[in-house]
Amino acid sequence: MGTSTDPFVVFSDVQKTYDGEILVVKNLNLTIERGEFLTLLGPSGSGKTTTLMMLAGFEVPTHGRIEIDKVEVNNVAPHKRNIGMVFQNYALFPHMTVEENLAFPLQVRKVPKSEIAAKVERALDMVQMPAMGKRRPAQLSGGQQQRVALARALVFDPKLVLMDEPLGALDKQLREHMQIEIKHIHERLGVTIVYVTHDQSEALTMSDRVAVFNDGIIQQLARPADLYERPENSFVAQFIGENNRLNGKVTSIGNGACTVAIEGQGQVAATPISVRDAGSPTTLSLRPERVRINPEAGQYPNQFEAEVQELIYLGDHTRCRVSVLGNANFIVKVPNAEGVPAMSPGQKVRVAWKAEDCRALDAF
Ligand SMILES: Nc1ncnc2c1ncn2[C@@H]1O[C@H](COP(=O)(O)OP(=O)(O)OP(=O)(O)O)[C@@H](O)[C@H]1O
Ligand SMILES: [Mg+2]
Repeated sequence: MGTSTDPFVVFSDVQKTYDGEILVVKNLNLTIERGEFLTLLGPSGSGKTTTLMMLAGFEVPTHGRIEIDKVEVNNVAPHKRNIGMVFQNYALFPHMTVEENLAFPLQVRKVPKSEIAAKVERALDMVQMPAMGKRRPAQLSGGQQQRVALARALVFDPKLVLMDEPLGALDKQLREHMQIEIKHIHERLGVTIVYVTHDQSEALTMSDRVAVFNDGIIQQLARPADLYERPENSFVAQFIGENNRLNGKVTSIGNGACTVAIEGQGQVAATPISVRDAGSPTTLSLRPERVRINPEAGQYPNQFEAEVQELIYLGDHTRCRVSVLGNANFIVKVPNAEGVPAMSPGQKVRVAWKAEDCRALDAF
């Protein structure tokens, strides 16, 4: 057994191909801390489930090694890894009651009969379903079934729990409720959770860290706020949250700052992130809430003429689409607060932003 500060799960140079040709996981290096809630987030086909299946033991890595608690598990059978699992379509046993479903993983593990009832009861309490042990899955709502599946994954006190889109089948309200519930259970138990979703708000809500996957590669591994505020490449900037893009060429760079020429339009002051040399093509990334409309002159290094195209009132803010620097789909989020000017489509405005909010990334 490792100590509490050792990494808990380690992927080293892990690759996976199903057909012997295409790598669906490419050189994965990933360290997961004990007690961490880590989410694999990415578009369909990016390798999330494959990664989880290798950790669970249902798929074998083509190359590389996976360790759990300092033990290489490449050749350890799934049921010997002591991992709890919840999958989107991992059905409960329909012919068994809720209690029998929960007792099953304990019986398989040869837990003494005298302890089983208490453990089952505790697991049901944990997911707030005390009085439902005698029902069968068909007599439960979708959310209740999902809770039982969660209880079944936790009932044998695993140190590691894997969840693959466990809330995908639930409606929005129940989904958001379960997100918070799982988060609280994680906090209470201190168990390590590896969670898969393609829903970014779910990932940001629940996780300590998020690994953004694309095409079998981790594009960025970071805490939710860093992922949103400091994307390291254009894929992540575009995938997480709303993003304005401006394509241009670096004209000068140095001392943590750069200027970027937008062809035929103007020069933008930006922060170089993944560009190195003058002359490089780049895509600027700028969050809609970082743009000001008609600020007092001289406050911002970037200030451009724009025309309001469309306004959508959304209660706490207005989504304002403007055309600026040749981009007719530039979004500005204007808070509906005191002192914010009223606007109408066709109106000419000035839009402005700071250089540090404008990240020069790889050309997209
Ligand atoms: N058993 C398999 N045999 C062959 N190819 C597979 C198999 N499982 C997955 N793949 C392929 O591997 C790639 C990665 O699939 P994976 O299921 O890991 O993606 P994912 O990120 O979980 O996507 P989704 O969000 O759609 O669930 C895909 O191109 C998929 O078609
Ligand atoms: Mg999947």
